[in-house]
This record gives sequence, C-alpha cells and structure tokens, in this order.
Amino acid sequence: MSKAKPILLLNGPNLNLLGTREPQIYGSTTLAEVEAMCAERAKALGHEIVCRQSNHEGQLVEWIQEAINGFSGIIINPAAYTHTSVAILDALKNVKAPIIEIHISHTHHRETFRHHSYVSTAATATMMGFGVHGYVLAVEAMAQMLKAKK
Ligand code: DQA
Repeated sequence: MSKAKPILLLNGPNLNLLGTREPQIYGSTTLAEVEAMCAERAKALGHEIVCRQSNHEGQLVEWIQEAINGFSGIIINPAAYTHTSVAILDALKNVKAPIIEIHISHTHHRETFRHHSYVSTAATATMMGFGVHGYVLAVEAMAQMLKAKK
C-alpha cells in the first residue's frame, strides 16, 4: 500500500508574528505552538502535517502548486492575501484535494475590506472566529473529509 500523502498547513503574511501581533485579536499563542498543536492532533488522527509560513505571495503560490500532486489536503490562512490575491485563488483552483480556508478572527465582524475573500471561491470550506483553536478544528475537519473521500 502506498504511503498516505501529508496535509499541508499554509500560513500567510504576518502570521509568523502570532503571539505578539495584535494579541487582542489574534491571542498570545505563537505560530510554533499552533503548528505543534496541529501536528499532535493530525498524528492522533493518523495523518502527517507539513507546516509552512511565508510573507510572500509567490512563495505561497508555489507551495499550493506542490499540493496538486504532493498533499492530501490544504489548510490555509492566507491572511491579508485573502482579500487581495487572485494569484492565490488561481493556484488553489488547480488543487483537487480538499481545501479549508481558516481565519483566526471573524473577518465579517471587522473592517469591510476584510469581508470579501477571493480564496473562499476555491475553498471546500471556510472556518473563522474560533481563535487559534480553529486550526485544530480544521485538522479534525480535514481528517473527516479525507475519511469520507476513501
Ligand atoms: C486573518 C484575517 C485577515 O484579515 C488578516 O489580514 C490576517 C489574519 C485571520 O486569521 O483572522 O492577517 O486571516
């Protein structure tokens, strides 16, 4: 039997600053802690997860392209690129695997420019407003989606 492909967790710009960035909105948990929580949950559910973060749109596009063949699913917080990036949307449209878009904050409760997401058009599901715990919920939801696909 061939080995299952890992899940890809992508975080976009400024999420490397989690823990100190606007803690009243994003909390005080660091990205390293979030990634460790996701890896632990994924492992318990029988999946491997690969975690990457970039402040650069093109880098995120390249990683999404890798997921066309290399990953079983994508969990992505595109951060500010959510609201601006046709390039990320177009890249995601090539991915057949399930895609979960996640936001720590509830973007519809914030400035109007955060209400529109280009990424939602390509996402299988969107989660927002659960704080950083949402990442763990997203791993669980992804595991369910992958089980349902089998
Ligand atoms: C965010 C919401 C975006 O509007 C913002 O630009 C971010 C983080 C969130 O996780 O709540 O960087 O994606």
